[in-house]
Amino acid sequence: MARYIGKEINRVDGVAKVTGRAKYAAEFRAPNLAYGFIVLGTVAKGTIKSIDTRDAEAAAGVIRIFTHLNAPKLGPKASHEQAPPRATEEQDKSFRALQSDRIFFNMQPVALVVAETYEQARYAARLVKVSYNAEKHTTDTEAVRDRGRFPSQGPPPKPRGNPEEAMKIAPVKIEAEYRIPIEHHNPMEPHAAVAVWQGDRLTMFDKSQEVYNVRKHLASSFNIPEANVQVISPYVGGAFGSSLRPNYYPALTAMAAREVRRPVKIVYTRTQMFTGHGHRPYTIQKVALGAERSGKLTAMVHEALHNTSTFEEFSDNTTGFTRQVYACPNLYAPQRITNTDLSTPTWMRAPGAVSGMFALESAMDELAYALKIDPLELRLINYAEKDPESGKPFSSKALRECYRLGAEKFGWKDRKFEPRSMRDGRLLVGWGTATGIWGAFQMPATARITFKANGTAHVASATSDIGPGTYTVITIIAAEYLGLKPEQVEFELGDSNFPRAPAQGGSWTTASVGSAVHGAALAITARLLEFANRDANSPLRGAAAADVEMLDGRLQLKNDTARFVNTAELMKRNGLGEITETFEAKPSQERRNYATLAHGAQFIEVKVDPDIGQVRVTRAIEVTACGRIINPKASHSQEIGGVVWGIGMALQEATEIDHRFGRIMNPNLQHYHVPVHADVHMIETIFVEEDDTVVNPLGVKGMGELGMVGIPAAIANAVFHATGKRIRDLPITPDKLL
Ligand code: MOS
Repeated sequence: MARYIGKEINRVDGVAKVTGRAKYAAEFRAPNLAYGFIVLGTVAKGTIKSIDTRDAEAAAGVIRIFTHLNAPKLGPKASHEQAPPRATEEQDKSFRALQSDRIFFNMQPVALVVAETYEQARYAARLVKVSYNAEKHTTDTEAVRDRGRFPSQGPPPKPRGNPEEAMKIAPVKIEAEYRIPIEHHNPMEPHAAVAVWQGDRLTMFDKSQEVYNVRKHLASSFNIPEANVQVISPYVGGAFGSSLRPNYYPALTAMAAREVRRPVKIVYTRTQMFTGHGHRPYTIQKVALGAERSGKLTAMVHEALHNTSTFEEFSDNTTGFTRQVYACPNLYAPQRITNTDLSTPTWMRAPGAVSGMFALESAMDELAYALKIDPLELRLINYAEKDPESGKPFSSKALRECYRLGAEKFGWKDRKFEPRSMRDGRLLVGWGTATGIWGAFQMPATARITFKANGTAHVASATSDIGPGTYTVITIIAAEYLGLKPEQVEFELGDSNFPRAPAQGGSWTTASVGSAVHGAALAITARLLEFANRDANSPLRGAAAADVEMLDGRLQLKNDTARFVNTAELMKRNGLGEITETFEAKPSQERRNYATLAHGAQFIEVKVDPDIGQVRVTRAIEVTACGRIINPKASHSQEIGGVVWGIGMALQEATEIDHRFGRIMNPNLQHYHVPVHADVHMIETIFVEEDDTVVNPLGVKGMGELGMVGIPAAIANAVFHATGKRIRDLPITPDKLL
């Protein structure tokens, strides 16, 4: 019986955060700190003709101005000279600043002013004059959609069955094209770094989702051993993928610090964030669905294309989950990318999945109307009982119960099928549904536990907590399996000197790092048992490690708790002040025999003002099945956040580019709209817990990103139901409804 797992527990770092004790990257201090301010370019493509830094250099407080003319080269090679990256872990080919006169995208860094104060650096930055040899640029993905190609990693996509033939003979079919604009993560905390050199040793305080990756990037940038670099990132004020890659500012900060021989700090402005960390790509999707009159899908073709940069390949694999959502024998779901003169896109919350499922789940709604079948019923007709891609069984899948429970809570049975058939006074009411899906990923991760004779424990792993509550969930897991109270456990993360952990991304942290902590706790238990069993009179004699557990200072038999030893006394008898175990958890072999996914069902009510085209999401019910929930409080918060972001993606978010200049026109929170309180009404999130013994020892699946997947589609479907207008281009702004 779990004491803490599954109970609502407050954030262990909550007080530190609200009182300002939690230190974010920009808040670290170092003696004699200098401040850098980045100068951004103003053309989208070409070369720098000249840079005049004389006025800037003469400005008060300026220490040094770096441009491509005087900045040292950062190794091993500039991004555009290397082959495209493959996986997050391996890539170190990202854009590095001030390496040549070449302009790859508008708002590219072209100079760095380092001064005594931030204000002096910012002022002088405005005095830097840059002229360009501009070249003809292309920033509009639409204009180069014909040049789409398959990403070079992995084999070209193969169709399942014969989708072409199946589509031809399908009695009912629909086909449509969907668009998602470029979007930006816009976390509250701006990206920041403080670099401190001591000889050829570098300490870097950074906002990061993966300190090991930043360490590697910096080591290769300066051709120094990784052991010489320490990256520290204890708190992150939201990232959503924008700190998965190293970004250009840490190397730039460290370069400046090394050159001026002082610690340097750089903080992105909100505007600089728009080209400083990647974006959700502009995505064009064509979906064709063929079905029997019964509603049974016979063919699915889902083709996606999105932008990448001219110097790097990136794909968020928009169509990846399409292969696994519905039972359908014939399918083709290729992903293409096309070059634009923009910065490289990156992963942004629920990358690929939320975009792909917007198109697919909108198309399913269109098919439901073509068939005159209730949209929820259509999804049940095509329910995948086993993985349609591999034929493997699911390790667990409670999606059917999500549909049932969500529909019941929402009152779906009262929905009238016809569009524009439901009203609230003069407002049009629409009800829409969609399916959510995400992987139950696990990555290799290592954790260290030091268990002390005084009944406390210290846990460390180089993971990150970008907001989901990792500090808390790991503390809970450690407390549970060490038999301690959460307040007796101290968990530290975000330091490259701690044992290796994967990026906090993909919603895999609890499954990965949690499993490592679980393993380390069991190793501590086994060690204690070993010591106990050296004693001929031990009440635990003959017990195997699996038979015992730790609880409140005792090592006891699970099925006979009267047989125990006192751990403090045991450690004292053996002269042990503390014992330390480090454990690496890896995905099991057994996982390969199954498809491991998390699912959800969403039900959305919108009310649309027919006179002004305003859409309000008045009710959202989201039921998700993502294994075991460790901390329901934080998990509900994640799912609510997913719904809120889904509202933003559906109705508001868009990074606007003026293609004449190839320049982002709304790089600020005044013009880049995200939901505010007035946009958020009733949201209810519900978990259908699954007892999954396959995914990992804790039975947890990914859930942070799952909560967003399907929401934009459910909203678009509700808008169609309310208005009869099918909006296939996000965001659904009032002009599109008038
Ligand atoms: Mo998330 S896009 O996996 O940081």
